[in-house]
Amino acid sequence: MSVLSGKKILLGISGGIAAYKTASLVRLFIKAGAHVQVIMTPASKDFVTPLTLSTLSKNPVHATFFNEEDEDAQWTNHVELGLWADVMLIAPATANTLSKMVNGNCDNLLIATYLSAKCPVYFAPAMDLDMYKHPSTVSSFTTLKQFGNIIIPAETGELASGLSGEGRMAEPENIIAFLEKDLESKLPLKGKIILITAGPTYEAIDPVRFIGNHSSGKMGFDIAISAANLGSKVILISGPTHLSVQDSNINLIRVTSAKEMYDACHHYFPSVDVAICAAAVADYKPKLVSNQKIKKSDAEFIIELEKTKDILASLGQSKKKQFLIGFALETENEIENAKLKIQKKNLDLIVLNSLQDEGAGFGKSTNKITFIDKNFLVEPMDLKSKELVAIDIMNKVITHYEK
Ligand code: CTP
Repeated sequence: MSVLSGKKILLGISGGIAAYKTASLVRLFIKAGAHVQVIMTPASKDFVTPLTLSTLSKNPVHATFFNEEDEDAQWTNHVELGLWADVMLIAPATANTLSKMVNGNCDNLLIATYLSAKCPVYFAPAMDLDMYKHPSTVSSFTTLKQFGNIIIPAETGELASGLSGEGRMAEPENIIAFLEKDLESKLPLKGKIILITAGPTYEAIDPVRFIGNHSSGKMGFDIAISAANLGSKVILISGPTHLSVQDSNINLIRVTSAKEMYDACHHYFPSVDVAICAAAVADYKPKLVSNQKIKKSDAEFIIELEKTKDILASLGQSKKKQFLIGFALETENEIENAKLKIQKKNLDLIVLNSLQDEGAGFGKSTNKITFIDKNFLVEPMDLKSKELVAIDIMNKVITHYEK
């Protein structure tokens, strides 16, 4: 999945011939799953039509502070637009627009919005080769880079003037690739490896029967997706579930029993930075597993059970640098029991689900959790979708690495 998926992109178009290429650019953003809003300078409308861009972006195009022809027109709020964006891209960025950006000369909506934007700003210059090399342009680049803006360098080739050289706006595909690479490199968990357990475990009674539970695996899978979106590599060790993931950063390892999950976790644990145990591991398993299907010969049938190994506790024992997060499902004395588990299992953080809280627990799309850290700081959270709970959990991981 592209790092641009779900991102809000504000595309500012200034008046150069390369503006015609922004139709492809918008299409590529939409294809990558981004949301796009377009701002045009008056001059750019000579090169590409607002209708083309509004159709492709599926949003109205912004060009002026208000529409003079429409009596009921509302003022276009450049501050709101600037704050809406996760990323602002000015492409093509002409010499004139670059110089206005340098000086804060906001005589059009594009520059006013640029000055209001708090997100990363990228610009893709486009001009003739002599303009591109002119000291004033070079000085604009230097100043804009000092402001924290990121240049997407122009390419070399045939120019609209008929000359050949450096100054062509980077091709739309190359702009997208540049943004993806740059945004990916800045993700907060880039370079981290995170192990996540999910789902139930099945403990065999005989070749056709097992002891299991109702865990859907959704919480663990949502955590895995959230972790991958933040740049980490994920090892997702899951018991039997109907869920699947399509993300090259998530290595899904399917297991069945608690023993298999234990072995897989210990295989990967030494090489990970973080482990989050969200699986509902069976606490007991049949002591003897029959090789053959058990016949219903007797009136009563007793299965003797023995404890499984506690995966989380064993990871806590062998923990070195790893940040270890466990879950606790409690029905009474929740906080106290969870605190005991933190100590007993040597955890850094516990995610407490109380069955006394409505909306928490198995088979639901929501969860109501309380965080308790190893210093026993208790932080109750609101009822949320499991996707948002997953983001809260990952924010705890980010905070840990920011310390
Ligand atoms: N867990 C585990 N291996 C087990 C049992 C549990 O890794 N064999 C992990 C779960 O993934 C979860 C945490 O331990 O992160 C808490 O599990 P929970 O069932 O709430 O508590 P237990 O430790 O099993 O204790 P009890 O059932 O007595 O409350």
